[in-house]
Amino acid sequence: MAGGVVASSAPVKNYPRKLTVFVVFACIVASSGGLIFGYDIGISAALISCFFASTVTRVLGRKWSMFSGGLTFLVGASINGAAKDIAMLIIGRILLGFGVGFAIQSVPLYPSEMAPAKLRGMLNIGFQLMITVGILCANLINYFTAKIKGGWGWRVSLGLACIPAIIITLGSLLLPDTPNSLIERGHTERAKAMLRKVRGTNDIDAEYEDIVAASEESKAIKHPWSNLLKRKYRPQLTMSILIPCFQQLTGINVVMFYAPVLFKTIGFGSQASLMSAVITGSINMVSTFISIATVDKVGRRALFFQGGIQMIICQVGVGTMFGFKFGTAGKANGPLSKAYTDWLLFFICAYTAGFAWSWGPLGWLVPSEIFPLEIRSACQAIVVAVNMLFTFIVAEGFLSWLCHLKFALFYCFSGILIVRTLFIAFFLPETKNRPIEEMSIVWKKHWFWGRRGYAAAAAAVRRSSVEQKAAGRKAVDSSTSSAASASSSSSSASSNSWVPDPVTGYYRPGNLRVQMDAAELRKTLLSHKQ
Ligand code: BGC
Repeated sequence: MAGGVVASSAPVKNYPRKLTVFVVFACIVASSGGLIFGYDIGISAALISCFFASTVTRVLGRKWSMFSGGLTFLVGASINGAAKDIAMLIIGRILLGFGVGFAIQSVPLYPSEMAPAKLRGMLNIGFQLMITVGILCANLINYFTAKIKGGWGWRVSLGLACIPAIIITLGSLLLPDTPNSLIERGHTERAKAMLRKVRGTNDIDAEYEDIVAASEESKAIKHPWSNLLKRKYRPQLTMSILIPCFQQLTGINVVMFYAPVLFKTIGFGSQASLMSAVITGSINMVSTFISIATVDKVGRRALFFQGGIQMIICQVGVGTMFGFKFGTAGKANGPLSKAYTDWLLFFICAYTAGFAWSWGPLGWLVPSEIFPLEIRSACQAIVVAVNMLFTFIVAEGFLSWLCHLKFALFYCFSGILIVRTLFIAFFLPETKNRPIEEMSIVWKKHWFWGRRGYAAAAAAVRRSSVEQKAAGRKAVDSSTSSAASASSSSSSASSNSWVPDPVTGYYRPGNLRVQMDAAELRKTLLSHKQ
């Protein structure tokens, strides 16, 4: 499709890297933040808290945002478990929501910044895997605690949320900061050391320079929120709104929240809750491994298409079966045969599997890897807020939509799925294997976003700064460092000023470590067009 073909023809920059045990361990620990999201969502509080978390993530780093999330969730879970009245339950839930908002603001960003580009998808999807583990555990625990005689089972269920909270709270203390975040906060030497450690090589200069250039730009931007509205960030802003919105409009949480009712309707009786927890929960979790295994090989777009089409077929299947049996009256026109319930179950399972290897993990992975550093935290906050908002809308609206639209509701979901799949086909470039700080080139190469100044020109500047370094690193370094120190001692304000780029005409920070000369930059831009 248009977007993907053009984007994938762009040259891929391969930084030297090895997959180190250290980076795998760090990504697994960070992903455990998904457990609290899977176990319990406090939707409205999460929606608000992600905006505060955005500042914490930017100023203090990803690690402390995760830590705050885990700790707040832990306090909320303890209050809920010990609740004596409704007020305590409400306060506990608000804290749970705040915790979730903080955690998912930073957790998806962490592996995307830590992982080598070629394995970023696999390591990032650990987050979605943990969400599915959290959901499965919560459903099983709910089933068994509901059977506890004496009416205190709910305390166990709510209180056990402390376990995933302790895992992420303590885990985050062990986590190192990402090199990107360290550079963003001015710890350059620590960032270099970290980059060497996570890449398993001393040859980190090219990647380091790219992150530094991204960070310089980030520092020049004082108001990331208002900057988001700039034309050059239009692709990222669009994706940060539409991807989470579309993810929720798959209707996945209809299955996640209402599966027990659905299973009861199709004849599972008193075992409905257990069966729905075990069947949909396990399929959701196991299918996520397919995404982990394939995302860096076949790419994001292929999974979006395959999963999307599978989900469309299943939604149409469910709608048609409901239509035949229940019509518009809403009552079954006869007993449900075994073949009927088997087919229904098949469609529900295939739908869940399709989501679990496509829109589920990619709904978090793709946003986390497409934002440039200067707007990354702000855009991630939008992703979380939109995700929560639409989770709320679907969860609240489903029953009343079903009453009004009957079986046609499933056709509506599949209609939205078609629109979404077309949107991906035309507007989402392929991002597999691309270094995260180089992503702007992907937008610039895209048939739609590359035009009319939609994509940032900064990538070309960054990229050619690194290429220029390769050609004459030492000479350029010494002259710019003395110039930089002279200018910073004379005036810090002037080092943050913006200058017009000689080729693109865009303004860029005057303090980019390597100043481009026009001929050099033109050559680089032309080479990218080939
Ligand atoms: C979604 C959740 C959903 C879960 C199901 C996540 O990616 O954001 O809303 O409940 O997947 O596994």
